[in-house]
Amino acid sequence: MKTPYYIRESLIVFCLFLIVTSAFAQVESSKEQFTPQSGQEGKDVVWVPTPQELVEKMLDLAEVTPDDYVIDLGSGDGRTVIAAAKRGAQALGIEYNPEMVELSKQNAEAEGVSERAKFIEADLFETDFSKVTVITMFLLTEINLKLRPTLLDLKPGTRIVSNTFNMDEWKPDDTATVDIINSTCYDYYDTALLWIVPAKVEGTWRLPEGKLTLKQDFQMISGTLEARSSTTPIENGSLHGDQVNFSAGRDQYTGRVNGNTIEGTVTSKGNNNKWKAILVID
Ligand SMILES: C[S@@+](CC[C@H](N)C(=O)[O-])C[C@H]1O[C@@H](n2cnc3c(N)ncnc32)[C@H](O)[C@@H]1O
Repeated sequence: MKTPYYIRESLIVFCLFLIVTSAFAQVESSKEQFTPQSGQEGKDVVWVPTPQELVEKMLDLAEVTPDDYVIDLGSGDGRTVIAAAKRGAQALGIEYNPEMVELSKQNAEAEGVSERAKFIEADLFETDFSKVTVITMFLLTEINLKLRPTLLDLKPGTRIVSNTFNMDEWKPDDTATVDIINSTCYDYYDTALLWIVPAKVEGTWRLPEGKLTLKQDFQMISGTLEARSSTTPIENGSLHGDQVNFSAGRDQYTGRVNGNTIEGTVTSKGNNNKWKAILVID
């Protein structure tokens, strides 16, 4: 006997329903089951997680507080962003791999910090991070070097902290290491490096008593001070964000760079006096 048309149709609909729900269940379960593998491919760098001890050391070195806006470039499973959010900072992870982004969101939710720990699926080379106060990263030196011009254009005083990989001639302002307790294949990565974005001071500056000529090599400065018909070399010159320090002869200068002006104190023979310099625009 032939099955009536309406029963056949109901069976087909029911089968379709089973196929769709089982496919949906598979997608859902594969979502839940996503487990990242150390060494898995990434767009420009593979994923290897920063050991948690080093994450904390990096944030300590950058002195992250609730006033900060922290961005992790290539945020992996979100651990650095989550740790920064736990310190009260607003934090954002930029990650190319959508599965890692999803996992990070779940991890932030589970840790109760999803209000402050955000993640976007994006290419770190195509994302504007100019509003940041702290950058964290675990990339490669060659990637750091590609990013270096952008990093040097960030607001003076912005802190950049990297797991292990350096920025060649731009030497770190500070470093710290950790003892990795649970030894694994990635315990090689035990060093945090910190850079403070220096103000840009290279050029000629006019002072009431003469002329200051500065040459800048990242956070190191050299040059001359021409005043009272003598030329004195600048020594021990350095920048810490917008803070400038140097000596000229026996005089010790400290000051704050604010655009085209430097203002501060010069200590000479035990006396403190104010000094001010204006950048000469050619
Ligand atoms: C070495 S892992 C570091 C992960 C995390 N920051 C940490 O310290 O645990 C590098 C991460 O960068 C991601 N990545 C690689 N190239 C990227 C790109 N162009 N844009 C965004 N993320 C990228 C990888 O998917 C990987 O998750």
